[in-house]
Amino acid sequence: MGQLAHQSGSAVDPAAPILLFDSGVGGLSVLAELRQALPQAPVIYAADLKGLPYGTKSEAEVAARVCGLLGRMSERFRPRLICIACNTASTIALAMVRDVLEVPIVGTVPAIKPAAELTRSGTIGLLGTAATIRQPYVDRLEAKFAADKLLLRHAAPELVTAAEAKLRGEPVDSGVFARAAQGLRSQPGGEAIDTVVLACTHFPLIEDELAQAFGGGVRFVHGAAGIARRIAFLTKGQPFKRSNSDCAVVTGADTDAAPLVPTFSRFGLSRIEVL
Ligand code: DGL
Repeated sequence: MGQLAHQSGSAVDPAAPILLFDSGVGGLSVLAELRQALPQAPVIYAADLKGLPYGTKSEAEVAARVCGLLGRMSERFRPRLICIACNTASTIALAMVRDVLEVPIVGTVPAIKPAAELTRSGTIGLLGTAATIRQPYVDRLEAKFAADKLLLRHAAPELVTAAEAKLRGEPVDSGVFARAAQGLRSQPGGEAIDTVVLACTHFPLIEDELAQAFGGGVRFVHGAAGIARRIAFLTKGQPFKRSNSDCAVVTGADTDAAPLVPTFSRFGLSRIEVL
């Protein structure tokens, strides 16, 4: 059913949440935009901390985790809409999840289209996880929107670790940002990159650090604002009522989530549940 599962306003429980799903804290970059677009919407933020990171896993592992967990969570929380706020999970499993769940699903895919519209030099960099950058989904986006551009891809798993550490208040090795920039710049033609796609939802959370590493003249593009607009469009006319404070749901142990309590509460997630 996927995108066609538009529910009329009167059929929707006003307390039914929007469920945002990621392997870790990356989806908070989407939640920040969603709060702007729909401040009154009840939200459950789900982080598969036990499965983190997704980017170094196989397609089969990611697909199994995402389909299994979203199935369980949609039974349990009855969301009005699910957003897979993770490029890795979306580029691998979006079609599968849409096939099996009868709830509208919004995915997150690399923002190659806006990057192709923005670039002046015609050379675009793309930073993502190892799993994302090898996906046929990304090849298709490139063929459709950037066939006349040079798109250089670089897998930067260290940046996922850096974003997770930053939001836990832990020290971050500053060399990771320079290495990510170098990973793109050192490819043939890489010196002309003027636009970088942040193709992992963790990366907007470290955009300032990346901007410093790349130096002036590079613009960063990601999909968070567009995703929030899409969610607002798909839930247009539906009633919203937050009957309880918003909640973060995590897999793993209590102790995995403990260092994230201050960050979660900064994003309005004042309760934490372990799945
Ligand atoms: N936030 C995820 C993404 O957008 C991936 C991070 C991970 O490797 O788990 O791709």
